Amino acid sequence: MRTAPGALPLLGHALPLRRDPLGFLASLPAHGDLVEVRLGPRPAYLVCHPELVQRVLSDARTFDKGGPLFEKVRPLLGNGLGTSGWHDHRRQRRLMQPVFGRERVGTYAADMVRGITAVADAWQPGRVVDVSAAMQSVTARVTARTLFSTSIDDQDVTDIQHCLVVLFSGVYRRMTAPLGLWEKLPTPGNRRFRAAHDRLRGLIHRIVRAHRRAAGGHDDLLTALATAHGDGADGSLSDRELCDQVMTLLVAGTEPTGHALAWAVHLVATHPEVEARLHAETDRVLSGRRSPEVTDLPRLEYTGRVFTEVLRLYPPGWMFTRTTTSETELAGRSLPRGADVLYSPYALHRDPRLFPAPGTFDPDRWSPDRARLVPRGAFIPFGAGNRKCIGEHFGTVEALLALSTLCARWRLRPVPGAEVRPRPETTLGTGPLPMLALPRARR
Ligand code: HEM
Repeated sequence: MRTAPGALPLLGHALPLRRDPLGFLASLPAHGDLVEVRLGPRPAYLVCHPELVQRVLSDARTFDKGGPLFEKVRPLLGNGLGTSGWHDHRRQRRLMQPVFGRERVGTYAADMVRGITAVADAWQPGRVVDVSAAMQSVTARVTARTLFSTSIDDQDVTDIQHCLVVLFSGVYRRMTAPLGLWEKLPTPGNRRFRAAHDRLRGLIHRIVRAHRRAAGGHDDLLTALATAHGDGADGSLSDRELCDQVMTLLVAGTEPTGHALAWAVHLVATHPEVEARLHAETDRVLSGRRSPEVTDLPRLEYTGRVFTEVLRLYPPGWMFTRTTTSETELAGRSLPRGADVLYSPYALHRDPRLFPAPGTFDPDRWSPDRARLVPRGAFIPFGAGNRKCIGEHFGTVEALLALSTLCARWRLRPVPGAEVRPRPETTLGTGPLPMLALPRARR
């Protein structure tokens, strides 16, 4: 195993990690299958080979959630599905998995389409919109509405959206602040963060309590979670657990899909030949530019390829950490208990040995003939193993419905001079994305 080049005494790789984390990560697979990176004086181990990544992700008991990043997120999300340790997670996942099954997700399609049309129908022809903010707004609405259906009003949805924006902007800074001192300062930003957190928690408690009193009756995700029952000791989720799961789903279900959609709109607008094929497919499948339904998705095959390629180039989850719970061996190296192990979908997806011309946006690399050539385990935008994204199907259906709805109605043009640079924060965003909204002529 090699140490990544450029480590400085005490600082380790802090400078390249701060200045250009994506470029730095993508350069590491060239140095070996397991590469040591120094976060200050502390060593961490990046797994760079698909088989090694699978080995880590398929043994969640040894490579458990943990490490410095998760310690900062836990107070925010509680002991929910994304942050719980191996033991609690197994029970939670067994209870929640059926709620995210294909059939059930299909029943939320109409809510998803309503979420995207509410945002896109408010655009003015010829006006500039911030597509990044708009896509976050779409996914926040969709998550809130599918979780709570009629038990919240429009004001609650707006409140949730607002709180999430404040939380997303603050959480990454907390995760990366040295020693955790920064978040304790009474700065206006920290006060806003705490207020948004308290407000969202309060709102969730109120909804969960009201929901329990009404004994369900809604056909939404919250009802499905509240009534989920496991065998024997699994029981069901307590009120506190339910609140933590709702918080987790609001956070985990909103930002990644919103960012992926913003990247999709940007990449399509800057690749005219892709845009032309996408529009042609949308026009054919959604004749008369009607709203899409979940049964249309198998025929929106090129749209699917485009979205898959977006997730390869800009996987919203660009890096994750694990902690070893016992001494273990990895790639011939002995790691002590408590070692930080990292995996990066971004680094794998940009490895030229796994994806030829990795920087090129080429949706056809996912045509059936070529997709077969992608090495097993090389494409992991949703992670793998039993911590794999529970919302994979939900997020994919939502994104495909949103993309086809947008393509049927709008042509979005980049604003000249606006620079788009990836923002590797909690998830990988575009930053502000001003684009000109031009209505597509009705056929
Ligand atoms: C394009 C959209 C999405 C992407 C790329 C994505 C990506 C991921 C990834 C990579 C993980 C694994 C993290 C790790 O290994 O530590 C994950 C976990 C998770 N995701 Fe997603 N996600 C997306 C959408 C969603 C949606 C829509 C929801 C909920 C409605 C959701 C809920 C979760 C939860 C709860 C976990 C934790 C699962 C567990 O530990 O059992 N995600 N996601």
